[in-house]
Amino acid sequence: MKKILITGSTGFLGGAVLANLLQQGNDDHLYLLVRGNTPEEGLDRIQINLRNFGLSEDVVNNVTLKNIILGDLATAESFIDNPLLDEITHVINCAAVASFGKNPFIWKVNVEGTFQFAERMSRVRVLEKFIHVGTAMSCTPEPDSLVTESELVSNREQHIVEYTWSKATIEQMMTERLPQLPLIIARPSIVVGHSNQGCLPSASIFWVFRMALTLGKFTCQMQDRIDVIPVDYCADALVLLLSAEGVLNEIFHISAGTDRSVTFAEIDEAMAKASGTPALGDNYQKVSYKQLSESRKQFKALFGPCNERIMLRAMNLYGHFSELNVVFDNSKLLKLGIRKPSKFIDYVDRCVLSTRDASIAELMQVDFK
Ligand SMILES: NC(=O)c1ccc[n+]([C@@H]2O[C@H](COP(=O)([O-])OP(=O)(O)OC[C@H]3O[C@@H](n4cnc5c(N)ncnc54)[C@H](OP(=O)(O)O)[C@@H]3O)[C@@H](O)[C@H]2O)c1
Repeated sequence: MKKILITGSTGFLGGAVLANLLQQGNDDHLYLLVRGNTPEEGLDRIQINLRNFGLSEDVVNNVTLKNIILGDLATAESFIDNPLLDEITHVINCAAVASFGKNPFIWKVNVEGTFQFAERMSRVRVLEKFIHVGTAMSCTPEPDSLVTESELVSNREQHIVEYTWSKATIEQMMTERLPQLPLIIARPSIVVGHSNQGCLPSASIFWVFRMALTLGKFTCQMQDRIDVIPVDYCADALVLLLSAEGVLNEIFHISAGTDRSVTFAEIDEAMAKASGTPALGDNYQKVSYKQLSESRKQFKALFGPCNERIMLRAMNLYGHFSELNVVFDNSKLLKLGIRKPSKFIDYVDRCVLSTRDASIAELMQVDFK
């Protein structure tokens, strides 16, 4: 029997991993590191999140106080002496400040606290695997490329945001300074929605597509490709890595790859079909950020109540990523026997449906916390 510690299970990826393991219903014992003033509050937060992943109430109620370990990675010393950690055989570390904003906790949590936690786990004698969830975007990819997994050597100037820099730094620190940690680094590409529940678990990044198509212009070309996967596929892959043999000290992309990545033109058509509106097609304009900023007076009419400055900042950041036209090679993961992911355009209708009553300003908050 494994004793699996999942961090970040009140979030998008960690919630999907927990939902996946609960649905399998095997005998492994699950421990969940969660923030909260009391174990009851932590449990409540986890169960509220789980309900967005389409689980029955019976399955949600299988999570009880026995699963809870209270802890905050911003103050790791508050939980790393917990003796329960000495029993853990497997970790899936999904917790992080996943924000493109200027959250003051990015470094404290994603680098300092995560390192303290990983160092503590490296001293657990029974630990067999520590799966750390990184991000494929932290490799600062060359535009127009098929990116393969390699170790990260970058500097702050190469990163558009503090978040990807923090993720690159912690990978490097764990690899270089914790040789005894049974580490696997899993780097998801761009995780958008759930293939059945759409954006109910999270609207992270989905709003960018809606924003660009509503504007009718953005900084990428319609033929550029984007590597998007649904969160349930990401969870399947992380759970596969838990039991896969001979994968220690390896890096894996969890990505759509060449076969399942899509172009913005395909997304335009699929979103239009799902919304019952005409696709932009040739009416789409590729523009510079400066030209986007000149449209700022239209934002309120197009998007509803919003802060123009924050919208422009979002366009600037996501514009940089969307222009990259990169795909992340997934052949290493596929060799472990996992199926290929659904294409984004095959479940985008569920994303459209689950967000139709929310404004872009509301949806984007999740990525700027
Ligand atoms: N979403 C994507 O497209 C994507 C792509 C590639 C990689 N990733 C990676 O996947 C991981 C999860 O991202 P996500 O999208 O699931 O983010 P998310 O929905 O924001 O979830 C983040 C999780 O981390 C927890 N957390 C944050 N600060 C913490 C702290 N100080 N102590 C303990 N737990 C803390 C959160 O708990 P609270 O509820 O208490 O805040 C939440 O459970 C991150 O490492 C991210 O880099 C995400």
